[in-house]
Amino acid sequence: MLAQYHSVQADTVATDIVIIGAGPAGLALANLLRGTGVRCVVLERQSRHYVENRARAGLLEYRAVEALRRHGLADRLLELGAPHGVCEFRIDGKRFTLPYSDLYEGRTHYVYPQQELVKDLIAAFVDSGGDIRFEAKDVAPHDIAGPNPSVTWTDADGEQHRLGCEFIAGCDGFRGVSRSSIPAGGIREFSHQPGIAWLGVLAEVPPSTEHVIYSLHPKGFAGHMLRSPTISRFFLQCPADDSAAAWPDERVWAELHERFAVPGSDWALTEGRIIEKGVVDMRGHVTEPMAYGRLYLLGDAAHVITPVGAKGMNLALHDAEVLAGALVQHYQGDDSGLAGYSETCLRRVWRCQEFSQWMTTAIHGTGDTFGDRTARIRLENLFSSATSAAWFAENYVGLM
Ligand code: APR
Repeated sequence: MLAQYHSVQADTVATDIVIIGAGPAGLALANLLRGTGVRCVVLERQSRHYVENRARAGLLEYRAVEALRRHGLADRLLELGAPHGVCEFRIDGKRFTLPYSDLYEGRTHYVYPQQELVKDLIAAFVDSGGDIRFEAKDVAPHDIAGPNPSVTWTDADGEQHRLGCEFIAGCDGFRGVSRSSIPAGGIREFSHQPGIAWLGVLAEVPPSTEHVIYSLHPKGFAGHMLRSPTISRFFLQCPADDSAAAWPDERVWAELHERFAVPGSDWALTEGRIIEKGVVDMRGHVTEPMAYGRLYLLGDAAHVITPVGAKGMNLALHDAEVLAGALVQHYQGDDSGLAGYSETCLRRVWRCQEFSQWMTTAIHGTGDTFGDRTARIRLENLFSSATSAAWFAENYVGLM
């Protein structure tokens, strides 16, 4: 059992790990530490209701599902999630399907909305006595470089707390406090902006397709992603400085119809009520190393990736697995896992960034005619070269 936080002093170790942020990274880490003897407390700025209903990503890689299954965290996912092994590209009105699962030893994705996974991870943690503090305001890490770090916050009743710990796991997303608490020069940051944006649309409508569609059109890319039997996700390429206000619902549907059109086929897009609309940041960003002193960064706090290859949530889960293993090792007297945490995670992060950049260029072009031609031929190679298709399948479904 953990001590009373109110009386805890900064220099007292009251828990082993403070996890800042209850997104996929923080919740996966908390769950993977359950039953290992390593104690943790999760601090989340938002309410439980908010995080359980925040619609984000929806495609889990085979490897991530296997890891969740091994830890008894995939029951609902396997019951309600749908395995997917085919995607479709539409190029100038022609359809090309790619059975990527068949090309990669039968491994599939699982379509499962992120908020459902978040619900599962919260339930598993809380039901087994785990400690999550929702609505924790002004969370601030302290003394991250020294041997006695701590975290302060204010709870929903306005009461202030300080919790001493041995390590802090910064799982608080791209704009959280963890990364920004690292002093200047403590980490290096690398960013890439592809110069385009996506308008992301969530609609209350059954999918008009059985698999993900990436459609290339002279007016720009359009994507039809899957979420559930009643909710679909769409993306429309738009200028980098565009805003959702410029996209009334009628314009969204008109553009989707036009960009997905397959002349001569009976394929049709079903319209529904749009429940969310926003311009999606297409930046790539990587922090090196993913640790400073006793603070470890995970998920979006350490790296963001375009949604193009659906890697963000999967990378967050991978970071959590690596750090959980390293922390357990640490308490067994072996610090090699912690020492190698950043390097292990960054290798996968950069491979995913490379794939995402490849795919971004392939489906949007580069903005100049020469670059557009080479991008197009690279995409067409997937349907004429077994080697290219196998490379795509491995990277798309996710490295093991
Ligand atoms: N204090 C406490 N909690 C915070 C703070 C803060 N200052 N800032 C942010 N948070 C919380 C957010 O409310 C959120 O619940 O941290 C959590 C971060 O969760 P995510 O943004 O989902 O990040 P992460 O867990 O790294 O998940 C990876 O990749 O592609 C994306 O959609 C995918 O969100 C997923 C992400």
